Amino acid sequence: MLSQVLSASALVAAAQAVTFSVGSTGGNATSPYQYGLMFEDINNSGDGGVYAELIQNRAFQGNDVYPRSTAYWNPLGGAALSLKNLSTPLSAALPTSMQVTTNGTGTTGFSNVGFWGFPVVAGWEYKGSFYVSGGLDGNLTVCLTSNDNVEYAEASVEVSSSDAWTQYNYTFSPTVSAPNSNNTLNFTFAASDLTGAVNFNLLSLFPPTYNNRENGLRIDLMEGMGALKPSFFRAPGGNNVEGLREPYWWNWTQTVGPLVDRPGYPGTWGYENTDGLGLIEYMLWAQDLDMDISLSVHAGYFLDGVAVPESEIQTYVQAALDQLEFLTGDASTTWGAYRESLGYGPFVVNFVEVGNEDSLGGGGPTYAAYRFPAFYNAISAKYPDITIIASYYDVDGATPPYNASGDFHEYAIPRQMSNQFTYFDNYTSAHPILIGEYAIIEYDTGVQTGPQWNTGAPRAFVPFWYGSVAEAVFLLGAERNSDKMIGAAYAPGFQNLNRWQWIPDLFEFDAYPAHTTMSTSWHVIQLLSGTRISENLPITYDGVWGPAFFVAGRNAVTGSHIAKIAVYNATASVPFDLSFDGVGAGATANLTYIVAPMNATNPIGGNVVETHTSMVTAMHNGSFVFELPEYSVAVLEIGAQAAGPGHNYGNPNYRRGWKGFKSWGKKNSHDGWGGNGAGW
Ligand SMILES: *[C@@H]1O[C@H](CO)[C@@H](O)[C@H](O)[C@H]1NC(C)=O
Ligand SMILES: *[C@@H]1O[C@H](CO)[C@@H](O)[C@H](O)[C@H]1NC(C)=O
Ligand SMILES: *[C@@H]1O[C@H](CO)[C@@H](O)[C@H](O)[C@H]1NC(C)=O
Ligand SMILES: *[C@@H]1O[C@H](CO)[C@@H](O)[C@H](O)[C@H]1NC(C)=O
Ligand SMILES: *[C@@H]1O[C@H](CO)[C@@H](O)[C@H](O)[C@H]1NC(C)=O
Ligand SMILES: *[C@@H]1O[C@H](CO)[C@@H](O)[C@H](O)[C@H]1NC(C)=O
Ligand SMILES: *[C@@H]1O[C@H](CO)[C@@H](O)[C@H](O)[C@H]1NC(C)=O
Ligand SMILES: *[C@@H]1O[C@H](CO)[C@@H](O)[C@H](O)[C@H]1NC(C)=O
Ligand SMILES: *[C@@H]1O[C@H](CO)[C@@H](O)[C@H](O)[C@H]1NC(C)=O
Ligand SMILES: *[C@@H]1O[C@H](CO)[C@@H](O)[C@H](O)[C@H]1NC(C)=O
Ligand SMILES: *[C@@H]1O[C@H](CO)[C@@H](O)[C@H](O)[C@H]1NC(C)=O
Ligand SMILES: *[C@@H]1O[C@H](CO)[C@@H](O)[C@H](O)[C@H]1NC(C)=O
Repeated sequence: MLSQVLSASALVAAAQAVTFSVGSTGGNATSPYQYGLMFEDINNSGDGGVYAELIQNRAFQGNDVYPRSTAYWNPLGGAALSLKNLSTPLSAALPTSMQVTTNGTGTTGFSNVGFWGFPVVAGWEYKGSFYVSGGLDGNLTVCLTSNDNVEYAEASVEVSSSDAWTQYNYTFSPTVSAPNSNNTLNFTFAASDLTGAVNFNLLSLFPPTYNNRENGLRIDLMEGMGALKPSFFRAPGGNNVEGLREPYWWNWTQTVGPLVDRPGYPGTWGYENTDGLGLIEYMLWAQDLDMDISLSVHAGYFLDGVAVPESEIQTYVQAALDQLEFLTGDASTTWGAYRESLGYGPFVVNFVEVGNEDSLGGGGPTYAAYRFPAFYNAISAKYPDITIIASYYDVDGATPPYNASGDFHEYAIPRQMSNQFTYFDNYTSAHPILIGEYAIIEYDTGVQTGPQWNTGAPRAFVPFWYGSVAEAVFLLGAERNSDKMIGAAYAPGFQNLNRWQWIPDLFEFDAYPAHTTMSTSWHVIQLLSGTRISENLPITYDGVWGPAFFVAGRNAVTGSHIAKIAVYNATASVPFDLSFDGVGAGATANLTYIVAPMNATNPIGGNVVETHTSMVTAMHNGSFVFELPEYSVAVLEIGAQAAGPGHNYGNPNYRRGWKGFKSWGKKNSHDGWGGNGAGW
């Protein structure tokens, strides 16, 4: 029975052989930005996520959207915890602190539950700090402990009573790892050491951070992103940039400088942002992963549908200009000097996106009439080299109401996206498109042509394999038109498994490091982004698109010839027969393909995506013959030295059309990056 099945499928396969040849000149030029990242601070993907701070509600921040509270703090040993606005606050930005009193006699104090627990990893050095004012004289113990009272790490801090706010620092390092995140951080002291009420604020604990940055980012998530070799970074978000309602927008000035000067912000996804992850932190994130920032600025529009009137729009235009001066200006400028005073040299900004999805909720008319033009005119006048991106683009619609690049977002079902290989073929504007957000979000159910959103549709909890391959078809369709594209970014990035809102996401995680999960879609991006085509080459192909979809080209830096292929919804393995003009008989190619069961998803901390690598040698006629299984994504690469007789690396025309990727040289130079502490 088995052999019959095999031979039957072999016959079918042979009948469906996909044969194409790749020319050596005349392809579409390729954009310098093909694959990138987008970050939106959805339910604890910033705080409690990428931002490495481990204490939740560290500074009792809040406002009339999210009231201040002592949530996530628990009293120990008969203590009472209350919020106080003291006459001497820690700072104007952090006016509310936590007061601790007790009538007890033994050990007293309080604990924090973290972001649904704390990671305890042997050998990590944790750095903690807190501010105290009031009547405590004695040794305070900070202990990282499990719920069943295993003490993993402890520090003793000698505190002296004072009416002034005093910061104390401590470090500790566990020698044993905890088996889960069921741990708390306990602060205890002798009740007899209290000489009155004692007040605490800005209590912080950091594990080691990526590149060892102070106030930095979580290492495993940064490494997971870095492994995608992303070129650009759309930040600091989508909806979060817009804000819930006036006056709450992502006011960058409140996110820079010392943490005591950051008041926090009512994020648009159900929780208060500490803004410890602020503008500089986003820039360092981009810098550390060698990404170009595509900086989103607030565009005078709030998520409650209110647009700032034309007479007041200049306030927000000026805020965006100040933001750019802060990031890029030299020390002779007002805001550039402020940045220098914080210890950072100028950053490079090549892309600015004005707002986020401004066509939604009735924002389109004001965006087209005066909001976008006001930002466009002011930014392009002062920064003519910056590419300005409008926050939406409807590829099927009429000419957009502006003359600029647009940001195309697509949340789709597999049947829909797998039909979009040629989606951008007819786009003819002089301005390239950013695919600033894309994802398969629901399973196919049969008749639907797009997501059903809230009508009981089977929303995916995490990416699933055939959806990820449908994304690959779409990505290759964009790459085939990559002269018209800025790049593509999956969205959103992170799902905190303890408090999530938008699903599915590229990564899943919680406080326990072993739970960090790269989704099936992450594996697709890793493969496609990891091998870059700098020059598309024309393909001669007589067949139809599907089940095989492909692009091909060269990489001017490595001299490789490359084909990228997705196989979607085949009935059996698909045989390929492909040749490259300029690649001779006997040339060797590296073939890497990834495959998984059609409906598979990555389990927490695991991976179902198999990676297969093999060498394929060109036949006497120079063609590479191989098979790919159904629902697979592949990259075939022929290195310059392996191309065999006739390869044309070294031809002076070879680099024609080359624009250069981010990692290998960009529009503006990196010179001047760094400064104190920034360390490019
Ligand atoms: C301490 O005693 C006072 C007076 O009885 C009471 O109001 C307060 O709630 C008690 N505090 C604690 C922490 O038990
Ligand atoms: C705190 O602990 C240290 C060392 O254990 C001790 O020398 C010191 O006297 C203690 N301080 C107070 C105020 O108890
Ligand atoms: C505590 O550590 C922070 C960060 O390293 C530092 O800026 C601060 O000066 C330290 N404070 C004290 C009192 O040592
Ligand atoms: C954490 O503790 C809770 C109750 O204390 C328990 O239900 C849960 O299973 C624990 N989690 C792990 C990962 O052990
Ligand atoms: C730490 O605090 C938790 C409550 O959050 C408590 O259950 C535990 O007993 C405390 N452990 C120690 C050693 O004080
Ligand atoms: C942004 O924040 C700064 C500092 O708090 C404040 O002065 C300014 O008015 C805010 N801008 C707007 C437009 O809300
Ligand atoms: C995430 O935030 C939304 C508010 O936008 C809230 O409704 C939801 O309950 C949050 N999700 C979780 C799991 O806490
Ligand atoms: C595969 O193709 C068949 C036949 O056209 C179609 O019925 C089916 O829905 C497709 N499956 C997917 C996952 O697109
Ligand atoms: C592009 O234009 C061609 C010719 O008008 C048309 O056949 C094709 O359907 C269009 N493609 C898309 C994706 O709209
Ligand atoms: C260039 O783009 C056009 C559609 O715009 C497409 O037909 C053609 O195949 C592309 N060329 C290459 C080499 O990908
Ligand atoms: C995948 O799941 C769909 C239903 O969601 C089902 O129709 C299909 O048969 C499954 N495919 C496999 C290979 O299990
Ligand atoms: C192909 O694989 C071989 C062996 O793993 C490796 O040495 C070579 O660098 C690879 N070439 C390319 C172009 O990736």
